[in-house]
Amino acid sequence: MILRAHAKINLSLEVIGARPDGFHELRTVFQSLALHDTLRFAEADEGMAVSCSAPGVPLDERNLVWKAARMVWEAAGRGGEPRGRVRITKRIPAQGGLGGGSADGAAALVGWDRLWRTDLSAGRLAELARALGADVPFFLCGGTALGIERGDVIRPLDDAPARWVVLVVPPFGVSTPEAFGWWDEDRGRQPAGRRPPPANPLAVFNDLEAPVARRHPELADIRDALEKAGAEAAAMTGSGSTVFGLFGTRRAARAASGRLAGAGWTGLVTRTSPRSRAGLLEHVGLV
Ligand code: C5P
Repeated sequence: MILRAHAKINLSLEVIGARPDGFHELRTVFQSLALHDTLRFAEADEGMAVSCSAPGVPLDERNLVWKAARMVWEAAGRGGEPRGRVRITKRIPAQGGLGGGSADGAAALVGWDRLWRTDLSAGRLAELARALGADVPFFLCGGTALGIERGDVIRPLDDAPARWVVLVVPPFGVSTPEAFGWWDEDRGRQPAGRRPPPANPLAVFNDLEAPVARRHPELADIRDALEKAGAEAAAMTGSGSTVFGLFGTRRAARAASGRLAGAGWTGLVTRTSPRSRAGLLEHVGLV
């Protein structure tokens, strides 16, 4: 059983406000990328074993892939500890706002469900995804989708027009609670009149970008460099620290990546991916 776990960017991310449960109310447009991890699942006679091609990834119960195994096992009403092996081939840079861990977690829910033939409904998988993390439900759906509430309630949208994407991953990471904490701190600085959410799915902005860039000015430099290198639009993705630029052609994306390399930043070139390639569930309407 082999599944691809596609990365995402947030084409737009609007923070509506803090919620009583410690999360923030969001309105965000997610977009799948061709860039993906690969997960290989296999039966095992006893215990769980998670291995990964990249160093620094926890291989124990902290890994969402392991948590997903426990959830599917329990949801299927099986006794004892889950039994299985999974090998993760990691290509999505970690802790960069590209959803690497969440994508793996979503792929694992589907992978274990198929491997063990537990046959959970799409609705049940979506519930488990929500319990794994706010970003996880999107990956069941893939393509272009609207995320509301904590970002975990997903409405599939038509695939956005295809674009080439340059990802610049700065040498520092930003933790998600930290980014939202900075948004809280800077609240007084937000402009009073908020713009309405744009109807065009390729309208690009991120309300977390200003608070993060205030603490990491390099982010604004990267965004400027992407725009100067010809990006149609550029913004931070998720809670950062990755900044992406959108381009009409591969050639333009590659040229921009070359110019950024001259300035000391490494640009990873990928493209947007439609739901038919990146979605994990067929019945996405149920998600
Ligand atoms: O669900 P996830 O593990 O991705 O969330 C990590 C943390 O990020 C939350 O505990 C919360 O502090 C912050 N968060 C938030 N609002 C969201 C999503 C995440 O404040 N919509």
